Amino acid sequence: MNVKVEESDIFTYEGECIVLGCFETDRKHLAVLDKKFDGRISSLFKRKEFTGELFQLWLLNTLRKIPAENILLVGLGKKEEFDAEKLRKASGHAAKFLREAGVKVFATVLHHSEVTGASVRFLAQTVTEGAVLANYKFVEYKTVDRDKIRFVDSVVLLASKNKKDVESGVNEAVVVSKAQCWVRDLVNSPPSILTPENLVAAAHLLPKSVKVTVFDKKRIKELGMGGILAVNAGSSLDPKFIVAEYKNSSDAPIALVGKGVTFDSGGLSLKPAQYMEDMKMDMAGAGVVLGVLKAIAELKLPVHVIGFAPLTENMPSGLSYKPGDIVTTFSKKTIEVLNTDAEGRVILADALAFAETKNPQAIIDLATLTGACIVALGTAAAGLTGNNHSLMDKVARAGDAVFERCWHLPLFDEYKEMVKSDVADLRNLGRPDKEAGALTAAAFLSAFVEKTPWAHIDIAGPAWSQEDKFYWSKGGTGFGVRLLVELLKSWKKNL
Ligand code: BES
Ligand code: MN
Ligand code: ZN
Repeated sequence: MNVKVEESDIFTYEGECIVLGCFETDRKHLAVLDKKFDGRISSLFKRKEFTGELFQLWLLNTLRKIPAENILLVGLGKKEEFDAEKLRKASGHAAKFLREAGVKVFATVLHHSEVTGASVRFLAQTVTEGAVLANYKFVEYKTVDRDKIRFVDSVVLLASKNKKDVESGVNEAVVVSKAQCWVRDLVNSPPSILTPENLVAAAHLLPKSVKVTVFDKKRIKELGMGGILAVNAGSSLDPKFIVAEYKNSSDAPIALVGKGVTFDSGGLSLKPAQYMEDMKMDMAGAGVVLGVLKAIAELKLPVHVIGFAPLTENMPSGLSYKPGDIVTTFSKKTIEVLNTDAEGRVILADALAFAETKNPQAIIDLATLTGACIVALGTAAAGLTGNNHSLMDKVARAGDAVFERCWHLPLFDEYKEMVKSDVADLRNLGRPDKEAGALTAAAFLSAFVEKTPWAHIDIAGPAWSQEDKFYWSKGGTGFGVRLLVELLKSWKKNL
């Protein structure tokens, strides 16, 4: 989908349909239009057919009183309660409605809707994000009735003033949202297609300013990454380790680490069928890291970022790693494996310690790490822990700004005690195993970051959507792309 900015307004735009926001009260901006329409808008309100209730839609034929044929009124609810996320949702809601109606091109003035404290640029960005993300559908494997699959081709933001600001917001949103849709494609691809090798192939599609290095199994062995090798042992497919660097600043790098389990069966501690269904999504962290690199390289952000992605399947076989095994990781610390389904932390142990050898100023990891984090927070927020509160606050603030929320969870010493092993340095399962699962996992990871400010984002919940609504579609969400781009944009300012 492409997004354009046109220097016109609802009275001059020559196209099929214009999306227009409308609050429950304060409808002053509709007065002129209402008059042109011989009071048809105010009578809608009088009859309470359209009330402006949040996300209510009403399609109005213009009877050619203006050049456009239709106006889609979108309810924005109560003005005092309106915010950027409601705007993003309203934009997505309208886009999905028009898409299913077969509309290919529409204009919108939703970015004129007031959000307290927000600039025109930010509003244009938010409206664009909503529309681009809403238009996403994973249809690659649909063969029947392909001609009935509908997409919007282009959206036009009408800007009679502030055109430059609107354009700037639109351009950034298009880059970031398309990167986010690319991550969705990676996450939604079947696990026998999106193998470690093919995820590497995807990394090679990144912009040229991202230098991609890939370690194969031999190199992973030489480096002593015993965690990755252990998890990989049961798989017929070789592991890979991606190092992707974007350097557009002389500062020490910011390390982004993403869990890349291309399919998590649980291994010998096999998952029940029902829990395995969606486990192609267990590489979402790695996908997001690649998506962020794509976006920041296209935006040419003045930052130095290195992405690290350990990639493997977690499979049962006669060669699988076993409960009771002890593995030596890259840092030389040893792990007693008690549950082969707690594999994310085992590969991240290698990746975090390896990332630290690049002397980064900070390490941020994203991982679909624990079901326990979904129990705690659901899909509404990611769990946020780490060893440095100022870094964690920065992450949380960036998340709030773009509505990819992260919620602080504690990393008490008690949790660190719970992952100490009797026979090795650490155990990959908490003790007792049912308590504080998201936090014992985080406590385990913390042992592999020695000296660097570190934040851990458990995205198990928000990485996946069960809903096909607003700007989401069922499956991968790409959660984390907007958040990290926002964080990197404001990195220096907030230091
Ligand atoms: N990939 C899963 C976590 C997960 C679950 C992500 C559901 C998304 C949705 C992870 O590898 C896992 O299996 N974790 C176990 C850990 C347990 C064995 C200590 C879990 O959360 O049950
Ligand atoms: Mn697992
Ligand atoms: Zn997993």
